Amino acid sequence: MNSINDLDRQTLVHPFTHLADHDAGNTPSRVIKKGSGIRIYDTQGKEIIDAFSGLYCVNIGYGNEAVADAIAKQAKELAYYHSYAGHGNEPAINLSKEILEWYGEGMSRVFYGMSGSDANETQAKIVWYYNNVLGRPKKKKIISRLRGYHGATVISGSMTGLPFYHTAFDMPAGPILHTTNPHHYFEAKGDMSQAEFSKQCAHDLEEMILREGPETIGAFIGEPMLGTGGIIPPPENYWDEIQKVLKKYDILLIADEVVCGFGRLGSNFGSHLYGMKPDLITVAKGLTSAYLPLSGVIVGDKVWDVLKKGSDKFGPFSHGYTYTAHPLCAAAGVANLKVLKDLDLVNNAKNTGEYFNSQLKNVFSEHPLVGEVRGQGMLAAIEFVEDKDKKVRFDPSKKVGAQISAACLEQGVIARAMPHGDILGFAPPLITTKTDVDVIIEKARIAINQVTSKL
Ligand SMILES: Cc1ncc(COP(=O)(O)O)c(C=O)c1O
Repeated sequence: MNSINDLDRQTLVHPFTHLADHDAGNTPSRVIKKGSGIRIYDTQGKEIIDAFSGLYCVNIGYGNEAVADAIAKQAKELAYYHSYAGHGNEPAINLSKEILEWYGEGMSRVFYGMSGSDANETQAKIVWYYNNVLGRPKKKKIISRLRGYHGATVISGSMTGLPFYHTAFDMPAGPILHTTNPHHYFEAKGDMSQAEFSKQCAHDLEEMILREGPETIGAFIGEPMLGTGGIIPPPENYWDEIQKVLKKYDILLIADEVVCGFGRLGSNFGSHLYGMKPDLITVAKGLTSAYLPLSGVIVGDKVWDVLKKGSDKFGPFSHGYTYTAHPLCAAAGVANLKVLKDLDLVNNAKNTGEYFNSQLKNVFSEHPLVGEVRGQGMLAAIEFVEDKDKKVRFDPSKKVGAQISAACLEQGVIARAMPHGDILGFAPPLITTKTDVDVIIEKARIAINQVTSKL
């Protein structure tokens, strides 16, 4: 009889997996069976602390009964109805009201999808539509950043500023440009301060806008704090400097809050923390803590006014999916946001996050192969380098980050090898306690020393 692991190899196409090696049984196969709190369990019965919340999404932790019950209740009452042509459902309406309250001033409406990627496709379409309504048919290019991550579909994947997402997929596609990666540690020249580097990033952006022609640039998209590109907080004043340039050339700002939104950084949204005033916001992941797939585009007042005018000009808004505003997913969202509030998890992310980040710095900053320890709230990373003084990375073929992540797993902790550089990423669930933090850090310390002592 085939084991469940064999069946997995024989039936699924796995994302970000070496297909031939997996098919041949040369890569690890782990089938996850159960989750509870911050822990998951595989089919072999191994218990693992998930210090990355799946893909930084299971923010309230696993096995939350209130959310599971809300989904079951909704499934019995109304599993589905569409939201085309003015149809609504109670969970989606209640969730939209909640989301707009979570954000505060300046946001008007919510459009729903199923993934962060499809929400960013919607963002691009809204930017194009907006400028068509305004009679600016050339203002369509969208600027993203090197190391930005916005998804894997055609336009969102093109926004993503990581080359291996493009290779052999005929991407980037569409009118997408990439500007400077705002990572002070590697990108700032000489002894530039953080604030000076932020000015440099804004200057690079302005140069790009002028080179392309401001009349061709529709929007800038950025994560408040870079996630998949390396877990990199913005340098000091970064968003102030960037927003000055965007304002000057009448360019919309899209805040991709798929990771940062709903508390991960210890604030409701990353935009609040860094003084961003976005025109459009992308949310997903923490919106439902991944109990069901749901994403949203939060439309700001200024864009909403123009979208409404579009219906007079072009007829009904011709965008949407079968599952837009799906009642089950929305019910999961409403229940999830209630858990976040009831357990005060945004504050826990702030307080425990401060402890987590300071302990990571205390334990790892002086390590001879650690170049930088960085983070905010419940999102943190350790960057390993071969030469700390000269900031030289390891040869990628050594796979130092992957080795350390595998050693952490051996210790019973998931910390993610971020896909570009030797970066160990942490994004524990927002329910994580200081005692859990101590366990995670101690296990990571053992794993890191095991690997680095052999380098
Ligand atoms: C900032 C950001 N935007 C968009 C996405 C894409 O979301 P999804 O994987 O749900 O398509 C991600 C996923 O990690 C993300 O981190």
